[in-house]
Formats: sequence, structure tokens, C-alpha cells
Amino acid sequence: MNELKNDLFLRACLRQDVERTPVWMMRQAGRYLPEYRATRARAGGFLDLCRNPELACEVTLQPIDILNADAAILFSDILVVPEAMGMELTFGTGEGPKFPQPVTCRADVEKLPIPDPEVELDYVMSAIRTIRKGLDGRVPLIGFTGSPWTLATYMVEGGGSKTFSKIKKMAFDDPAAMHLLLEKLADSVAAYLNAQIANGAQAVQIFDTWGGILTTRDYGEFSLQYMQRIVEQLNRENEGRRVPVILYTKGGMGWLEAIADTGCDVVGLDWSIDIDQARERVGHKVALQGNMDPCMLYASPDCIRAEVKDILAKFGHHNGHVFNLGHGITPDVSPEHAIEFFKAVREESAQYHR
Ligand code: CP3
Repeated sequence: MNELKNDLFLRACLRQDVERTPVWMMRQAGRYLPEYRATRARAGGFLDLCRNPELACEVTLQPIDILNADAAILFSDILVVPEAMGMELTFGTGEGPKFPQPVTCRADVEKLPIPDPEVELDYVMSAIRTIRKGLDGRVPLIGFTGSPWTLATYMVEGGGSKTFSKIKKMAFDDPAAMHLLLEKLADSVAAYLNAQIANGAQAVQIFDTWGGILTTRDYGEFSLQYMQRIVEQLNRENEGRRVPVILYTKGGMGWLEAIADTGCDVVGLDWSIDIDQARERVGHKVALQGNMDPCMLYASPDCIRAEVKDILAKFGHHNGHVFNLGHGITPDVSPEHAIEFFKAVREESAQYHR
């Protein structure tokens, strides 16, 4: 495999020395970019884009060219896993994801198969191989998945939710059925991530977008436990390099120590915590990724730069920081502001690594 020209991101994940802080952004390939919207139109729709390896590669590379990002993230969606388990998935224009036939009871859970990622998700593996060729070693490629709990919320609610009443009712009334669903998802996701790694993903991130809606007890029982199970099953080395694992629980900043104890390499932060306090709490165990408020990108370029400087100063002269937003970039941000964010991290961070 080709030599990596920029491995700042991988080194920072492993808390090794870097010349400056690497930066990438959740949802960096997305609707805020006119180039993305043009490619999506050529594909037909969002899911067609996910299923087309050439075009998925094209949108994955756009933020590398436009923003100079230090890592690429596979263009796909977390919900392709439940789809591969036989659930019909739709994305209406301007709407969120929908599962028209959601999981409603234990019998529904029992029917779900564990997909073979090389078969049902072969188009993702093909996209990964195409992207690695397209990147030609410029920056590393991050693969990803949703956490079992986060995937289950969409599968049981049938789409997005404000109250999460259906999945919580199922977890409280029939915990055995919920655990069966989460076990199946954990095994599906572990196989899926290992296939991504075998096909060329150089790091992987688990998105636990909805872990934060749980109580502390229920987070341990229904979300963290299953992420740990996945981490324990992953192949952590490929192409002669360690493959870092990033765990990101939005709304989970109260549980940082427990997240860091799973054996992951990096803990993803949302913007609700100061990064110096996060660092104090996890010590030298893991690297940290984050954590600018995504809405800061609506502010002026001067404000964006000041915030970048503030976060860098809070983290201070240490190894193990991957700069990112605290959650994904929103569709109506101006690309110029995103460019300024990346530029500010590159220019302001070198002084912390001398
Ligand atoms: O970060 C990247 O650039 C890689 C691609 C990526 C997408 N989705 C593309 C996408 C990643 C990593 C995801 C993860 C994802 N998908 C998550 C977890 C991360 C998070 O944001 O918390 C979740 C919860 C989903 C499910 C999902 N997919 C939702 C809720 C939506 C609609 C949200 C919205 O903003 O409307 C999607 C659609 C989606 N996934 C889009 C993109 C670029 C927009 C679809 C479009 O082009 O119209």
C-alpha cells in the first residue's frame, strides 16, 4: 500500500508527537458544499450516492481539496447497517431517514440476520478501496459506524425522534428483547468495521449520537457495554500500523472516564465540556477529539479564529489532540467559514508543538 504523506491525524490519535494539531470535521462531505450537491444530483439521491463507489469517492475527496483536511471520512451513512439486515430505508428530500416497518417486538428482533459485510455491504467496501486509490496516500481514511444503541433508536422509532419513547419503553418493559437487538447490532457492527479495516480504513469512529439521552445506569447497560464489546473484537493493526478507534457519545461528557476505559484510543467530545477539564479527567489514557461548537461556524471569521485559539490554549502543550467540531457541520454554513476554521487550526496550532 502507498506511503502516507500526511499522518498527523494517526499520530495524534496515538498521542505521538506532531508538528501541528491535525483537523477534520464531522459531516465534512455534505450539503454545505455546492460541489457535494452537484455530485448528489448526478447520483440521483443520497442513498444512490452512498451506493455508487466512484461518486462516493468523489464527495469523500472534496473536503480534502477544498479544506485541506488532515483526514478523509468514508462517505456513507450509519443506517446502511440496518438496511443490510433487511430493513427498508428511505430518505425523502429535505426529510430525515425513515424505516417504514420499524422493529416493534421481540419477534421482529429475532428475525433480523447478521449481515456479511463483504456481501450485503460490498458497495461500502468497494467505495473504501476506490477512495484509498483516489487519496493516493495524501491523508488517512476514517471508516465509521453507528453505535448499537444509536442504530437501535432509528430501527425502533422508525426514524428520528424527540422523546425516544418507543425505544425507551421497549428497553424498560422488555430488556431481554432490547439486549438481543443490541447484541445482534454489536456483532454486525464489529464484523462491518473489521471488513472496513481489511479493505483500507486506517482508523474507525463509532458514532453514539443518542447515548446521551440515557440515564447513567442505562448508558452503561444499553450503550457503553456494547461499544466496549465492539472495541474488543476489532483488528487494531493493518498495513503495519495501529488502527485507532474513536468513540464519540454526544451528550456523554459526564461519562468520559468510563468511555476512556473501554480500550478505545480516542474519545470524541461534544462542545458542552471545556477540553482542559476533559483532559484532566481522562489523563494520559486516550487522545481527545473536538470540540468547537458547530454553530461557531455561523459567526465571523474573526470569531472562528478566536475560538480556535481559545480551544488550543485550553488544551495547551500536550500530545493527543485531534481538532474537530463537537458535532457535524450544518447544511447552511458558508464554505468560506469552514475553510477559515481549518486554516486557523493549521496556523495557530504549531506553537503548541515545539
Ligand atoms: O462525516 C462525513 O462527512 C461522512 C458521512 C456521514 C454521513 N452520515 C453522511 C450524511 C456520516 C459519518 C454520517 C453519520 C450519521 N448518519 C449519523 C451519526 C453522526 C451524527 O451526525 O450524529 C447519524 C445519526 C446518521 C443518520 C442520518 N443520516 C440522519 C439523521 C440524516 C439526516 C440529517 C440531516 O441533516 O438532514 C442523514 C443524512 C445524511 N448523512 C446526509 C449526509 C451528507 C445528508 C443527506 C443529503 O445529502 O441530503
